[in-house]
Amino acid sequence: MSHSSTNLQFIVQPGGSLRGSVRVPGDKSISHRSIMLGSLAEGDTHVSGFLQGEDCLCTLKAFRAMGVAIEGPTEEGRVTIHGVGLHGLQAPAHALDMGNSGTSMRLMSGLMSGQAFDVRMTGDASLSKRPMKRVTAPLAEMGAVIDATPNGTPPLLVHGGCKLKGMHYDMPMASAQVKSSILLAGLYADGETSVTEPAPTRDHTERMLRGFGYAVKTAGNRISLQGGGKLTAANIDVPADISSAAFFMVGASIAENSELLLEHVGINPTRTGIIDILRLMGADLELLNGREVGGEPVADIRVRSAKLKGVQIPEALVPLAIDEFPVLFVAAAFAEGRTVLTGAEELRVKESDRIQVMADGLLACGVDAQPTADGIIINPGNFSGGVIDSHGDHRIAMAFTMAALRATQPVIINDCANVNTSFPGFVDLAARAGVRMATA
Ligand code: S3P
Repeated sequence: MSHSSTNLQFIVQPGGSLRGSVRVPGDKSISHRSIMLGSLAEGDTHVSGFLQGEDCLCTLKAFRAMGVAIEGPTEEGRVTIHGVGLHGLQAPAHALDMGNSGTSMRLMSGLMSGQAFDVRMTGDASLSKRPMKRVTAPLAEMGAVIDATPNGTPPLLVHGGCKLKGMHYDMPMASAQVKSSILLAGLYADGETSVTEPAPTRDHTERMLRGFGYAVKTAGNRISLQGGGKLTAANIDVPADISSAAFFMVGASIAENSELLLEHVGINPTRTGIIDILRLMGADLELLNGREVGGEPVADIRVRSAKLKGVQIPEALVPLAIDEFPVLFVAAAFAEGRTVLTGAEELRVKESDRIQVMADGLLACGVDAQPTADGIIINPGNFSGGVIDSHGDHRIAMAFTMAALRATQPVIINDCANVNTSFPGFVDLAARAGVRMATA
């Protein structure tokens, strides 16, 4: 795949305001799940607002490779999936390439464990370094057989024909991917499969399973389902991704004279940590026109410039804002007073080590940022500008793009092609909203 090797550079001139209204692309988590459940359902599933980022396209291609007829995505993000039922997938002729996508690899590990055939799954350089034991170990307890490298990293070979049995799993970390992987394997297991999570994580899998007519019980922090049911096709309207909207929430907060309307943003309460943390910092965010779309809450969000202050980030909010920390660190860099994050060691095993890579980038721009084992301490002030290595991590690249709005010197960001994994069209949308950027 081209995205791991291309060096696309973002050149962002300092200053500017964000104004007008924008609709960022569809939610990545919901888009992945729409393809997975739609493929395994009985009947046709119609999806609108599908995210045409490379990550979700990896999932789409994987199911096509297993014999599922999928039309689209059209330019407007319409996809039609002709579901084959839980037992209708066919052996793919080749390894499934999951690109940069941890969600694809981890959720599919669970699903593939229940199939009659072997599946090999590969990924790009970043995904090939990410820990998979967190799913392969509990899946093995259910009876799955999955080979990984000696470090527990991809490529994975998921053996077919294993008989899975339901079990209870007490999750050691707050991870929606681990939870989802086990629940999806549970569809194929004998009896009940349940998980308890140490803190709430995004619940899109549970919501969508219910939307497809599959009974999932949630009681406190315990989620359970019975194997052997069936999924019935449903229509899915994917809201705009709050994780993509987050860049603009921070950008419009820190840039002077900004007023931006973010349209049709998913505000599922397991995803709104970014709103809570920004409000603690003093941001001016207004939720308008709240509504529910296909089982997911949605709103328009109006953001105006505000004077932010540094905060101690409450640990309970960490899993609810897990993908938003790169841009929250940028907000902290322009706040008044110190920001301290703890309890966020998971950030070290994302598409890059987001604690180290963000600290290095902030330091390169003149900000005092000290990484810790499980977080960071940011003493704001002195953000001039500089050259950033995004380490091929989409969210690092987009976070530093927003920082330029308040920089005094240009911000030049290297290795940005992976922005396409989650946010196709980012450069045009950001430029239209007021970011002074170009690519090279
Ligand atoms: C996701 C869960 C989160 C998140 C990722 C998407 C999902 O990962 O970081 O971008 O769709 O379930 P973890 O489960 O590793 O926290």
